[in-house]
Amino acid sequence: IADIKGGPDEGLNRVGQTVVVMGWVRTLRVQSSVTFLEVNDGSSLSNMQCVMNSDAEGYDQVESGLIATSASIWVQGTLVASQGSKQKVELKVEKVVVVGKSDPSYPIQKKRVSREFLRTKAHLRPRTNTFGAVARVRNALAYATHKFFQENGFVWISSPIITASDCEGAGEQFCVTTLIPSSREAADSPVDAIPNTKNGLIDWSQDFFGKPAFLTVSGQLNAETYATALSDVYTFGPTFRAENSNTSRHLAEFWMIEPELAFADLDDDMACATAYLQYVDVAEKDFVQLTYTDAIGLLLKAKKKFEFPVKWGCDLQSEHERYITEEAFKGCPVIIRDYPKEIKAFYMRQNDDGKTVAAMDMLVPRVGELIGGSQREERLDYLENRLDELKLSKESYWWYLDLRRYGSVPHAGFGLGFERLVQFATGIENIRDAIPFPRAPGSAEF
Ligand code: 4AD
Ligand code: MG
Repeated sequence: IADIKGGPDEGLNRVGQTVVVMGWVRTLRVQSSVTFLEVNDGSSLSNMQCVMNSDAEGYDQVESGLIATSASIWVQGTLVASQGSKQKVELKVEKVVVVGKSDPSYPIQKKRVSREFLRTKAHLRPRTNTFGAVARVRNALAYATHKFFQENGFVWISSPIITASDCEGAGEQFCVTTLIPSSREAADSPVDAIPNTKNGLIDWSQDFFGKPAFLTVSGQLNAETYATALSDVYTFGPTFRAENSNTSRHLAEFWMIEPELAFADLDDDMACATAYLQYVDVAEKDFVQLTYTDAIGLLLKAKKKFEFPVKWGCDLQSEHERYITEEAFKGCPVIIRDYPKEIKAFYMRQNDDGKTVAAMDMLVPRVGELIGGSQREERLDYLENRLDELKLSKESYWWYLDLRRYGSVPHAGFGLGFERLVQFATGIENIRDAIPFPRAPGSAEF
């Protein structure tokens, strides 16, 4: 259908040709002398209007009710100029075959249905125009993301999903549990190495074969190891956060794009993020830039009453972020830099003032924080001190510290939440509608 209607004259140049369309019935209008079917074949959002008289082969399937909304059909006919105003061409049906009938209980009827309802039908919602469109925008953004980084010499790195380290140090991790059928395990293991057995399954008690392991919150630390060998790299994959938050901007499983630039500082990092957003067409102008200290000043001067009080050192809440991008800067994207070290992760590079770190967050209207990034602490002594101050174990970060021991370089990177980008690009209100199968508290059914 996209091929026919996307061509010159929206298909008029192909009038007279015999074509076959295979797709799903979107709507069906039965009139006394003629039946109209809107068929979508998945090639685009555009439907083919199929016009059928009672002499068409297979017409009895209309009469018997076999051709119904969401049935899959094979239809052959001749392209003719359409009398209707919605399309230039339509298909005069010669033969129709129902490939798979659709039960009358099909839950998505023609009238508008709410996004909340469609979330309970995540297996059928891609058949709606909205979710068909979001899936295509998501695909285009993923393709543009790889294109941008590949054209700029970055190497794509697959970071692991199972890991022992907590990159953000926030403890918002899902544990990995090993459950193996005990019969299989018993054959290979010494008896005393086998932990609890329950219901015929060996339960390693929230361990990965006896050692603690989690689902990754970020691929950054792994990306840093490759950046200090291959120079500029990026990851693009699923990440997980065990935050029990029911907001329109948080998911328990989301995709993150994490570039890591070698021989780079915070300015290079912000320039890369800006160029990326301009390349994928979600931003035109350069972003407004201000320091965290100036942002606090702005919020303190605001006439608006905030739920969370503002003072230097506080973490910015979404109400603060929204005020800054939507009201103070009138819908312009904003970069805030140089945050207090107490509210940021251990790996961020300390600024000369001893109080702030070379961190940056990019905020956009409606969505809030789209990107979080920083220059990394490349000085071994500073990093070790910071781990000590935060009572984090130097032993477990031994390999990360090695990068500072053997040829350390200034480097920087950022993480962009892919669903927030889809949200921003499409205008879809809830992040759960920006990913095919959202994972949030209480939703892992599909
Ligand atoms: O600010 P965050 O936590 O930064 C990091 O994870 C760094 N390690 C990134 C880096 O420097 N390589 O997360 C980065 C971005 C956020 O700005 C946000 O867009 C998104 O990830 N994000 C979430 N998106 C959906 N649901 C959640 N629960 C998210 N948490 C973070
Ligand atoms: Mg952040």
